[in-house]
Formats: sequence, C-alpha cells, structure tokens
Amino acid sequence: MTVHFIGAGPGAADLITLRGRDLIAACPVCLYAGSLVPEALLQHCPDGAKIINTAPLSLDEIIAEIKAAHDAGQDVARLHSGDLSVWSAMGEQLRRLRALDIPYDVTPGVPAFAAGAAALGAELTLPGVAQSLVLTRTSGRASSMPDGETLENFARTGATLAIHLSVHVLDDVVARLTPAYGTDCPVAIVWRASWPDQKILKATLGTIIDATEGARGRTALILVGHALGQEGFDESCLYAAEYDRRYRPQSADSPWSEWTPEEERQAND
Ligand SMILES: C[S@@+](CC[C@H](N)C(=O)[O-])C[C@H]1O[C@@H](n2cnc3c(N)ncnc32)[C@H](O)[C@@H]1O
Repeated sequence: MTVHFIGAGPGAADLITLRGRDLIAACPVCLYAGSLVPEALLQHCPDGAKIINTAPLSLDEIIAEIKAAHDAGQDVARLHSGDLSVWSAMGEQLRRLRALDIPYDVTPGVPAFAAGAAALGAELTLPGVAQSLVLTRTSGRASSMPDGETLENFARTGATLAIHLSVHVLDDVVARLTPAYGTDCPVAIVWRASWPDQKILKATLGTIIDATEGARGRTALILVGHALGQEGFDESCLYAAEYDRRYRPQSADSPWSEWTPEEERQAND
C-alpha cells in the first residue's frame, strides 16, 4: 500500500502528468483538495473508488482516512493543486505518514507560476534582464512570513517575482515593490491560469491598481519584473551561431569536438 501524492496541475484537466493520471486510475481511494483541484480529474478514478474532498477536513481527519485505507491495504491518490513542492501542506502530511510508517511517493505537477507564464507567453528569465525567479507570497491568516523574506528584500535583487496568495492585498504589494522596481515596471495578474475562465491583466506598477478596478477572485498570480514585456534583452549564447558548445562544436580544434556519445553520457551521469 502506498499513498501517492500527485500534483494535479493549475486547473486545466489535461495539465497533469501521464504518471499522475495513471496513478489516479489505479487507486481505489482518492483524496483531493477540492478548493483548487479540478473535479474533471476525478473522472480518472476507477469505478467504485472512494472519493473524498479534503477541503472541509482537518489534518487529523485526513490522516484518519489515509490510515483506514492503509489498514485495508488500499492505495491512495492524494491530489493537490499545481505542484506539491510549494504551498501544498504536503510536508505536514508526510511527517504524520513517516510517524505511522505508511509508505508514500510524490509525483510532480505543473505549478501555477508556470501556467501563468504560459498564459502570458512569457519567459521569466531573460538574458541581461532577470536570471532569477522568486516564488513568494505575503503573510496570510494561516501563515506568517519568516523574517527576511520580505517583498522589499526580494525586490532589491531585481529578480522576477511570482507572488502567490496576495491579490487581495495588491495595494500593499505595489507600495512595497515600487521603490525598487519603479512605476514603469511591468506587472501581470493572471487569474485562474489554464481554467476556462482564465483572465489576464497587463499593466505597470504605476497603473495596475486602477487597471484592476472591478476584477475579482483570489486564485491569481501577480508577476512582477522587467523581464515581462521586454523586447530589448540580449539573445542567449545558447543558440548563437558562433558559440562553441558541446552539441555544436565550431571547429576541429574545439574541446567539444572530441566528445563521443559515451563520454557525453558519462558526463551527464
Ligand atoms: C495554496 S497555493 C497553491 C500553489 C500550488 N501548489 C502551485 O504549485 O502553484 C494557491 C495559490 O496559488 C496561486 N494559484 C494556484 N492556481 C492558480 C491558477 N490556476 N492561476 C493563478 N494562480 C493560481 C494563487 O496565488 C493561489 O492563491
């Protein structure tokens, strides 16, 4: 018996991995975080599966369901939105399962920031503009931010920011980022990326507050940084015609020209 934690993706029912889909289809018990996991994914559950929406349950109740499945020798598919590595509450469940000696594994999913960037058609790391992406949030009722992880501190780096769980405090986000990024800095808000009712708003730190007038809904990602909407960035060396690299040696003298496929494989091992 294994509990399979599965990243259910950002919303579109076909943005789940094949592995995740096949695990759902193989498990007689499915626990899903109903607030954000698309119900369409539950169609992959086998006939007669026990399907439980965990949104109204406490951690104790969730673990009790898993323990019951464990005692019955039944595999469990445990679905959380996006990927499980960020804001999934998986960590506390895994700790309980380790204490109970219940086996588990983890299948990644498409995170909201990736779906948001895809909706915008944007690369968030443009050469010479931004080479880092910060996945962050602001304090909420359930989680305060550790000292040091402030928007002001992240803003000082100039990195692209993907700010989760914060669209309801947009005014505060804008006020805290503007001193470092400037009023001209591009901002995009993507509501419900990849869902049928996805909405996108593009503006700048100086105009975003007025632009969101009337726009509602908390399932939204705020993307901020000069990489958004930039045309004046450098091209990467990767595909530059003259760039000497392992996969495209430029001459017989190139250190890369002597690489055999076997050396390549070993270097990657
Ligand atoms: C509890 S976090 C879950 C994050 C998720 N584990 C992930 O990998 O993206 C929920 C927040 O993620 C963001 N989010 C999740 N799904 C989204 C989507 N489809 N579009 C925009 N933002 C989304 C919103 O900021 C939302 O408040």
